[in-house]
Amino acid sequence: MNNIKIGKIGIIGLGYVGFISAVGFALKGYKVKCVDILENNVKMANNGEVPFFEPNLRENLGKVLESKRFSASKDYTILKDTDISFICVGTPSLKTGEIDLKYIKSSAENLGKVLGTMDHFHVAVVKSTVVPGTTEEVVLPILEKFSGKKCGVDFSIAMTPEFLKEGDAMNDFLNPDRTVIGASDQRTANLLKNLFMQLGGKILIVRNPRTAEMIKYANNTFLAMKISFINELANISRTIGGIDINEVAQGIGLDQRISGKFLKAGCGFGGSCFPKDVKAIKEFAKNRGYNPILINAILDVNEKQPLIMIKILKEAIGNLKGKKIAILGLSFKPNTSDMREAPSIKIIDQLVKEGVILNAYDPVAIDEAKKLIKGTINYSNSLLNCIKGADACLIITEWDEFRELTPDFFIKNMKEPIIIDGRKIYDFNLFSSKLKYYTIGQK
Ligand code: UDX
Repeated sequence: MNNIKIGKIGIIGLGYVGFISAVGFALKGYKVKCVDILENNVKMANNGEVPFFEPNLRENLGKVLESKRFSASKDYTILKDTDISFICVGTPSLKTGEIDLKYIKSSAENLGKVLGTMDHFHVAVVKSTVVPGTTEEVVLPILEKFSGKKCGVDFSIAMTPEFLKEGDAMNDFLNPDRTVIGASDQRTANLLKNLFMQLGGKILIVRNPRTAEMIKYANNTFLAMKISFINELANISRTIGGIDINEVAQGIGLDQRISGKFLKAGCGFGGSCFPKDVKAIKEFAKNRGYNPILINAILDVNEKQPLIMIKILKEAIGNLKGKKIAILGLSFKPNTSDMREAPSIKIIDQLVKEGVILNAYDPVAIDEAKKLIKGTINYSNSLLNCIKGADACLIITEWDEFRELTPDFFIKNMKEPIIIDGRKIYDFNLFSSKLKYYTIGQK
C-alpha cells in the first residue's frame, strides 16, 4: 500500500455530488470511471448532458469527455482497475426523518463484488452524507462480506464529507475551503490528503470515519441553526417595528466569534441538505435515547417560517379569496432548478387552500415545480406576465433577474403594487417610499 499511486478514480452514483466530483477529478487530470444504476443518468453523462441545472457543469463535462478522462456505465466491473472509489449515492429520508441507507448498502455490496476481483490495494471512500458509524459499521462489513477480503490488508476505508453548495458546486469542488478526512488508518488518511491537497484549502484529518460523519451533520445543523435563529429574531422584531433585521445581523456579525454569514432572515431554508440532515441527526439522537432540544427548535422555526409570508400578505390585503397573487421564484435558492423542500411549496399549498389565483414564475425551476406542487396554479413564461394585473407579489427566491427590477416596473404592471419580499432583495427605504413593500424582519 505504501506505493499506491492514484491514477484511476471510481465514482459510484451520478447524482449531484458524484457528478461534480467525477467531472472535478477528471478536470484535474485523473481518469474517472462512474457507475450509476440508472440507465438514463449513464446515457446522459456519456452524451455530455447533465440531468440537473448547475452552472459550468455541462461545459466541464464536455471538456473531460473530449479528453477521454470521463466515462460512465451501469456495470460495476468498470471499477476493477481503479485505485480509489468514492461512494456518492443518495441518502434520502424515510418517512420518520431517519436516514435511508438502502443505496449505501446496495452500492457497497456491488463495490464489494468488484473488490473481490481486484489484484491491487483499493481505497473505498464514503462521500454520501451518512449518520455517524455508517462507514465502519455498515459499509465495511458489507465490503468484507462481498469481496472476501480484509480491511487493513487488501483494502481500506475512509469518509470525506462533501460541502458543495448548489449553484456554486463546481467552484466549491475545485477550490474547497477545507477537506475533512476520517480514515481507517493513517496511511489511507495521508493518501487522501495528497489527493485533496491538489485542490487546495485546509485539510483536517480526524481520528476516524465516524468523526468525519459527525462533522458533516454538525456543519449543516449549525448553519441551519444560524438561519432559524435570525428568522426567529426577525419575527420578534416585526412585533415591535422600526428594527431592521439586516442591521441586527450586521451588528452581531461584526463579532468574529459569530460572523455575519448565514444570518439572512427570510422565508426559511430548503434544499436537499439542511432539512434532511437536521431531521436525520434529530432521529439519530432520539433513537439513542437523547432528546435534542435545540435541534428540534431549528426545525420548528423553519416549519413555520414560510407561512409568515402569508401572515404579512393578509395584513397587507385582508381576505385572500379570489385575489390574484404573483409568485416570483420557486427553487429553494437561486441558480438551481432544485425544488426539494423549497419554501415556495408550502406557501403555494396554503395560498391554494385559501382560494387565491396564483401566477408563478421562475427562470429555471418550473418543470421541477410542476412535479411537486399539487394545487392548480398558472405558470408564467415571463416575469412580466407573472406580475401583470396582480393584487400582490411574493418574492420567494432571490434570482438576479428580480434584483434588477425598479419600483416603477411593479407600479406600472401590477393592479396593486404590493410586494412581500421573502428574501429582502430591494432597498427598503427606496421601495417602501414608492409602493407597499413588506419584508421579513423590517417594518
Ligand atoms: C448546503 C450547505 O451550505 C453545503 O455546505 C452542504 O454541502 C449542502 O447544504 P445548499 O443546500 O446548496 O448547501 O444551499 P445553501 O446556499 O447553504 O442554502 C440553504 C438554504 O438556506 C437556502 O434555502 C437558502 O435560501 C437558505 N439560507 C441560507 C437562508 O435562508 N439564509 C441564509 O443566511 C443562508
